[in-house]
Amino acid sequence: MAYEHILVETHDNVGVITLNRPKALNALCTDLVREVGSALNDMEANNEIGAIVLTGSEKAFAAGADIKEMADKSYMDVYLEDFITNGWEVITTCRKPIIAAVAGYALGGGCEFAMMCDFILAADNAKFGQPEITIGTIPGAGGTQRLPRYVGKSKAMEMVLTGRIMDAEEAERAGLVSRIVPLEELKDEAIKTAAKIADLSRPIVFTAKESVNRAYETTLAEGLRFERRTFHATFATEDQKEGMQAFAEKRSPKFNHR
Ligand code: HXC
Repeated sequence: MAYEHILVETHDNVGVITLNRPKALNALCTDLVREVGSALNDMEANNEIGAIVLTGSEKAFAAGADIKEMADKSYMDVYLEDFITNGWEVITTCRKPIIAAVAGYALGGGCEFAMMCDFILAADNAKFGQPEITIGTIPGAGGTQRLPRYVGKSKAMEMVLTGRIMDAEEAERAGLVSRIVPLEELKDEAIKTAAKIADLSRPIVFTAKESVNRAYETTLAEGLRFERRTFHATFATEDQKEGMQAFAEKRSPKFNHR
């Protein structure tokens, strides 16, 4: 399928979506978000693909929702079209792991886009922020909810109330990103990390992702019960048998369900 605002590639069993609206620093206009949703749905349905990388340019992952597109919308416009839920949440419903590989600006909706992914790898020039307050609005795609879960209340509140931007090192210290890599290695490292996941057992990867996500949606006791049951369920798979036998036989496992 031909896209206008994104590039789509596959590297063996890894799908890569690159936001590609350079003149607007990858501002997330409606068409771009729709294209990302469509590409993700294709990758989710493609059995060859086991994990996905979502990235942008060296200068910007995405500088936010498209301010020019939003500026004149009325309350009724945004209410009726359910502005921003519409299309964005495909990232959060995808069962295959999605790594956000962030270089440059990840601001506003760009930071929210990255936080919807399963984890964030940052280039050393990455900058994260929720500057919506400086243009008379607030985060609308999860920033006030996901940022505190990543970095805690104090830092999230400061960022949302002041619009202050944090650099990659602060983001790593705060737990927003899993690790920092040199800018020139970001894409390769993200693909390598995704390939490592894609080579593992697909059902077990899905189970692990589902279980970690439970931590954000339920109590500790319920989450532990969910984990125990899904852990038990892994013993019903051939891949658990193969993985443990391979360990005992000192060889690499050959998982069936890629
Ligand atoms: C539309 C944008 C944009 C955006 C940048 N551009 N960000 N267009 N929406 N969010 C456009 C600029 O208008 C300009 O186009 C071109 O990209 C280059 O931007 P510059 O400002 O000239 O670049 P620079 O001086 O390097 O500054 C980079 C920047 C700045 C610091 C990232 O662009 C900036 O502050 N952008 C807005 C950041 C922001 O407030 N994001 C939150 C948006 S609200 P022209 O044609 O003029 O050259 C949001 C709400 C989310 O995300 C709610 C739910 C999703």
